[in-house]
This record gives sequence, structure tokens and C-alpha cells, in this order.
Amino acid sequence: MWSIYTALVFALVAASRFTPVYVLEFCQSTDPDCHDDTASNSHRSPHTVKSRWNVSVSNLMQDLGQFRVSCKKLIEAFPLDEVDGNFVHAVKNCIFSESTPTPLKGPLRLAAVSKDVIEGILDLDVAVTQSDDFLQYASGGRLMLGSVPLAHRYGGHQFGYWAGQLGDGRAHFLGQYSNRKGEIWELQVKGSGKTPYSRSGDGRAVIRSSVREFLCSEAMHFLGVPTSRAASLIVSEEPVLRDQFYNGNVKTERGAVVLRLAKSWFRIGSLEILAQSGEIDLLRKLLDFVINEHFPSISSSDPDKYLVFYSVVVNETAHLIAQWMSVGFAHGVCNTDNFSLLSITIDYGPFGFMESYNPNFVPNTSDDEGRYSIGAQASVGLFNLEKLLGALSPVLTQKQQKEAKVILKGYVGIYQMRFHQMFKEKLGLLGEEEEDSYIIAFLLKMMEDTQSDFTMTFRQLSEVSVLQLYNRSFTQMWALDNLSLHKHFSDWLKMYLLRVSRQENDTDLDHQNRMKNVNPRYVLRNWMAESAIRKAEMNDFSEVELLHNILSSPFVTQQTAEEAGYAARPPLWANRLKVSCSS
Ligand SMILES: *[C@@H]1O[C@H](CO)[C@@H](O)[C@H](O)[C@H]1NC(C)=O
Ligand SMILES: *[C@@H]1O[C@H](CO)[C@@H](O)[C@H](O)[C@H]1NC(C)=O
Ligand SMILES: *[C@@H]1O[C@H](CO)[C@@H](O)[C@H](O)[C@H]1NC(C)=O
Ligand SMILES: *[C@@H]1O[C@H](CO)[C@@H](O)[C@H](O)[C@H]1NC(C)=O
Ligand SMILES: *[C@@H]1O[C@H](CO)[C@@H](O)[C@H](O)[C@H]1NC(C)=O
Ligand SMILES: *[C@@H]1O[C@H](CO)[C@@H](O)[C@H](O)[C@H]1NC(C)=O
Ligand SMILES: *[C@@H]1O[C@H](CO)[C@@H](O)[C@H](O)[C@H]1NC(C)=O
Repeated sequence: MWSIYTALVFALVAASRFTPVYVLEFCQSTDPDCHDDTASNSHRSPHTVKSRWNVSVSNLMQDLGQFRVSCKKLIEAFPLDEVDGNFVHAVKNCIFSESTPTPLKGPLRLAAVSKDVIEGILDLDVAVTQSDDFLQYASGGRLMLGSVPLAHRYGGHQFGYWAGQLGDGRAHFLGQYSNRKGEIWELQVKGSGKTPYSRSGDGRAVIRSSVREFLCSEAMHFLGVPTSRAASLIVSEEPVLRDQFYNGNVKTERGAVVLRLAKSWFRIGSLEILAQSGEIDLLRKLLDFVINEHFPSISSSDPDKYLVFYSVVVNETAHLIAQWMSVGFAHGVCNTDNFSLLSITIDYGPFGFMESYNPNFVPNTSDDEGRYSIGAQASVGLFNLEKLLGALSPVLTQKQQKEAKVILKGYVGIYQMRFHQMFKEKLGLLGEEEEDSYIIAFLLKMMEDTQSDFTMTFRQLSEVSVLQLYNRSFTQMWALDNLSLHKHFSDWLKMYLLRVSRQENDTDLDHQNRMKNVNPRYVLRNWMAESAIRKAEMNDFSEVELLHNILSSPFVTQQTAEEAGYAARPPLWANRLKVSCSS
């Protein structure tokens, strides 16, 4: 059997004939280390592997001129903004405004591309991304066949308060693409210029925030967390002024555009604005549309359809936030305008992956109150679902409103159940025993006390054998080493090992493999993103590519990642890092 290393060397050689970008995606389907259930969307059949090296075996589109999207469904379903023109204004009685992207000043450069999205979702041969045409299409400079670019009108509660009209202030919807798997995806460019919703913004996004969105949305996908996707990242020479830390220190940065995809970009705020401004017919229309398109299990003739819709969103949101917690992800700006109706992660801003375990971890350094700390996410979810209920109330009967409140009450229970389940999986526990919650809570408390690294503590627990645990031989296991300094570590260990030993027919190897499939070895830590961003700002995109490739297999130990120190103790300078806030 091949080691990962041999596979890499082989991949390097093979890739040199193609383009070096995709090297690390190579993964033998026979390699037991290479399967991760959570990312099952990326089929790794031998056929797919082969097609990476021989473009013509697959019948992917080679010509961007043939790539067609459609805006018909949305345009026919809803009235458009009657005010014509791309200037900022208060918008009424519509869901979208027509708005044309403003091309970026060139030369444009392709900084990163997701082969998984380009080929697996957009049916395009990844080779086309190397063309000038692609730079234009993927940055909003030229429109794909069928595209009628739109900006979406929505509102939202920001930081606890109703903020009125918000809307796509620097993103353009380009169209829906129906792929050959029969899926429909909505394409957006972000950073593509002003729209009627830009408020005081310039409609641009800078390189640093775009690199972060590109890398994180792809990383989240491969971690198995529902998310929008990113197809490409294009950087320009267009100067963009930003006060990165809101401290009066304005710098010139450069504009960038991410081509991103989701099954739908509708948010809680999409409904809220209609309810708030009394546009109830339109509210009903939008709800019916969303239910029809995205909630096939709900019958359009069901008199309780909005109630059922609500219960699904409550359930899925609880699940999503539990998933964030299980990988230590803090979204950073959980406003209702940033919460998807399909319960996928959208709008990557000042997010962060927690390093040392700390429930008060706040990724946005300007969020002094810690409103959106990682530990507050579950209750912020509840707040947002309350606002969703408020937006639905005009179309619910009194009785349904009462029932909806009962559904909302169930949220906490669903969240806790899912959290419990996921952390049990992270510890490799099968079945259900009375002390399971205690084992989980005890461990998290020790991690908090010792400031143990969240990701690596769980990962290293997946990599040690039971014997090693008994012996407490943690050489090279820096996170466990750290944890084991806790004065109650032995007590916990005894309890855990006893629990594990009662798992009939569970071998050490099975146990480890199960855990390795849910405990990533690599997450997008801020310092990793920051280092890649510094290079990207000087037009060296190698580290963005490296990270993108590594984070596409976060559960698999990779030589290059180890060499880059991505599973090592974070460097000292990581502690001093502030998250780039303005975007
Ligand atoms: C790719 O595959 C096709 C069909 O199997 C074959 O004809 C062609 O020679 C291959 N091309 C390369 C570069 O290997
Ligand atoms: C809740 O959501 C989860 C995750 O998507 C799903 O597996 C489960 O079936 C849902 N439960 C209900 C009652 O809809
Ligand atoms: C997400 O929330 C932040 C803060 O409220 C806001 O600035 C940003 O515009 C939102 N993102 C989108 C795409 O709406
Ligand atoms: C970070 O938090 C501050 C304070 O709540 C807020 O004003 C700011 O908009 C947040 N940053 C982003 C990018 O949302
Ligand atoms: C655990 O590691 C963190 C960061 O690596 C360090 O700050 C902390 O002091 C360590 N805790 C103990 C008990 O050694
Ligand atoms: C554990 O300790 C025993 C006894 O000291 C020793 O024989 C064994 O090799 C150790 N095993 C590991 C995996 O460290
Ligand atoms: C364990 O394996 C034995 C023998 O194959 C089987 O009889 C028993 O039911 C299994 N126990 C569990 C809990 O699966």
C-alpha cells in the first residue's frame, strides 16, 4: 500500500504536466486513511482520481461561452425594484433590484480556484480557469449567457437591534446554474461594486477578507459543515481604502472578487424586511417560493406549511450551530441578515477557529461585549429564530403562532441533544451511558483550565492507543501533554477508559478511525490565514493554494501540512494577531 508520502511524490510528478495547484487533492481510493465520511460529496472513486490527470476523459465544458445561467425563475416569481439605476436608495415592494457589477481595474489575477466546485458543481473543465475570459466572467467584468445580475433586498437585526434596509451591498447574484447532477446553484460575485443597497460602502472587498472567505467556506465544506461554496478568487489592481481596525489608520489595499455559490442566498432578514414594512403579500410569495424550491417535504397545500417550515428551520439551525461548536468555529457576526433560511453557513466576515479552548472566544476584536463569542452562538441562534418567528407572524393564525412558540421552546433541547451526540462521536463513544454528559463536560472544563488547544486535543485523543492513554505516554502529543497537567486528569482518564472498555467489539483501531473521521487535524487558524494573506497581497498565492489543498482533506495527515507546522503548537506571534475586521 502507498504511504501518503509516496502518493504525494507521484502526484507532484503527475501534476507537473498539468498545473501544480491541485497536487494535494490526490488521494488513493484504496488508502484507508483517505476516506472521510463527512466530506462524502467529493466522490473519490478511482474514476474521479483518473480524470484529474486526463481532462478529456470527462465531458466537462471547455468553453465558457457555452456556460449558461438563468435568472428567469427569480425574475418571474417576484416584482423587481421599479427604480432604475445603480444608486443607493430606499427600496420597496420587491425582492431584487437589477444591478450591474462594476468591473475591477486590471490586470486581474487568478489567486485561487476550487477544482471541486468548478468541476463538481459547475461542470467546467478546470483548465478554463486559466483563461482571460474566466477572469472576466468570475469577477463580474463580463456576464455569462443568461445572466441578469441582481442585488437582493433584505433587512436584519444587527447586534440585537433592527437595522432597517440592508441588502446585497457589494454582491451580485448572477443567475442559477442547473448542473448535470440535477442540482440548482445560485452564483454570486462578492466585491463586484455598488448596488442600491451599498449604503455608505464602496461595493468592494479587499484581498484579505476575500482570501478568508474563499479558504474558510471551502474548509467548512470539507469539515462536513453546511456552507456556501467558493469557486474562485480573483485579485485586481484596483485601489480600495480601508480602515482595517477602525482606528483611523486608513490604508490603500486592493480589490478582489470571490465567485461564490449556494443553493439559496435567502436569509432571515429577507423575510424580516417584508414583515417590518407591511408587504405581507410579498412575504407570502417569498415564503411560498422558498418552500417550493427548497423544502420539498412540505406540501404547498398544507394549511400549516409556514409552521412546518418554521419547525424545519429551528431544527436545522440548532444542528448547524452544534456543528460549528464541534469544530470550534465562531461565525463572528450572527446577525439575522447573516443567517441563512437553509441553515448553511454564509457571510464569512471576522470568523475564527478557536485555538485554546475558551467559551468566551470572540473572533471579532471590536466586539468588546462578546455578543458573538463562540459560547454565545447557541443563544444567538435562539434570538435569531425568535426574529424569524416575528417575521412569520403576519402569515400565521393565532393558534399557529402559539404552536410556533412551542416549537421554538424545543430549540434548546435539539441543540443540546445534537451537541451531546457530536461530542460523544468526537470521543469515540458508542451507545448511551449515564455518565456521558459528565465525561464531555469534565473534559471541556479541564481544557478550559489548562487552555488546551481545542482541535489538537481531540485529534490527539483520536491518535493515541488505549495503552498509550493508560501509560500517559504523550511524547509529541503537545495538546494532550498540556491537558494532562490538569490535577484531575487521572480521574477523567480512568472514567473515560472504563467507558471505552465497556464498548463491546470495538477495537482500538476502529475506535481511533472513527474518531479521526470527526476530529480534524487541520483547521483554518487565523495565523495560517494571515500568513497566506501577507503573501497574497504581494501576488504570491502559493500559500493560499497550499492551505486550500490541505484543508480539502482536514482529517488526513499530510506531509506538507506537517512540514508547514499546521498541526504543531501555534507560533508565538499567533497570540498577538488581531483579526482584520473591516472587509
Ligand atoms: C485521455 O484519455 C483519452 C480517452 O481515454 C485518450 O484517448 C487520450 O489519449 C488521453 N490523453 C492523455 C493526455 O493521456
Ligand atoms: C433535524 O435536522 C437534522 C439535521 O439536518 C436531521 O437529520 C433530522 O432528521 C431533522 N429532524 C427533524 C424532526 O426534522
Ligand atoms: C453580515 O453582518 C455584518 C455585520 O452586521 C454586515 O456588515 C455584513 O454586511 C453582513 N453580511 C452580508 C453579506 O450581509
Ligand atoms: C465587530 O463588532 C463591533 C462591535 O459590536 C461591530 O461594530 C462591528 O461591525 C463588528 N465587525 C464586523 C465586521 O461585523
Ligand atoms: C497550555 O498551552 C497553552 C498554549 O499553548 C499555554 O498558554 C498554557 O499555559 C498551557 N497550560 C499549561 C497548564 O501548561
Ligand atoms: C506502557 O507501559 C508498559 C509498562 O511500563 C510498557 O511495557 C509498554 O511498552 C508501554 N506501552 C506504550 C505504548 O507506551
Ligand atoms: C459482539 O460480537 C459477538 C460475536 O460476534 C456478538 O455475539 C455480540 O452480539 C456482539 N455485541 C455487540 C454489542 O455488538
